[in-house]
Amino acid sequence: MKLVLLGPPGAGKGTQAAFIVEKYGIPHISTGDILRAAVKAGTELGKLAESYMSKGELVPDEVVIGVAIERLAQPDCAKGFLLDGFPRTVAQAEALDKELAKLNRPLSAVLSLEVEEAEVVRRLSGRRVCSGCGAIYTAADKALCETCSGQLITRADDQPEAIRRRMQVYREQTEPLVNYYAMKGILKRIPAVGDVKEVFTRIEAALG
Ligand code: AP5
Repeated sequence: MKLVLLGPPGAGKGTQAAFIVEKYGIPHISTGDILRAAVKAGTELGKLAESYMSKGELVPDEVVIGVAIERLAQPDCAKGFLLDGFPRTVAQAEALDKELAKLNRPLSAVLSLEVEEAEVVRRLSGRRVCSGCGAIYTAADKALCETCSGQLITRADDQPEAIRRRMQVYREQTEPLVNYYAMKGILKRIPAVGDVKEVFTRIEAALG
């Protein structure tokens, strides 16, 4: 299964990715997680990425395409993968198509998580993430991570101004991909409101 998860910030991509990789046994490739790990490690990539991420801007295509393609070349991706947050621009989607054509591994489906903007803004304002393992929570959840006991913190780009900019960037640069993949006949539209398990049931049904 070679999948892409598409959707605005806060649509629940990371939340659903955890269910998908468990059920289908494929690696979860989140460019956001890879970039945040680089920021935490203080690498050159991390320093560059932080200057864009903190403002809610996209990291330049040439940087992110390199990161994603390098990850897809790892042996654990040979039988399938779940891309979360990549591609995010038409240039990234075209680079991905080219790479997968070279490897003779076309995408099986693109899952488009659909949620109203007011709801995603509400979700992001209340999101907490584990500083240790990155698990996703809401503000109403516990103070410590139930998996690794790490502190739950607010993500740097979940501040009101960065959230507004991320939504604008999504509408301008990422939303066109919905049509891009619909034209290829591999888009699955998933209503992403309601209980997280209900949303996953819709994904399972869409994937057959
Ligand atoms: P990234 O990490 O990909 O963030 P994002 O796309 O903005 O998405 P989020 O992680 O904010 O939300 P999500 O959809 O995963 O929602 P979640 O499951 O957490 O990217 C961050 C930054 O990195 C970008 O802005 C950019 O700078 C850079 N970047 C990354 N990839 C890039 C690329 N390809 N090109 C260029 N730059 C790139 O859920 C959100 C909240 O809602 C949680 O609290 C959760 O508990 C809750 N929730 C989930 N589902 C439900 C539900 N059904 N009902 C109620 N609450 C729910």
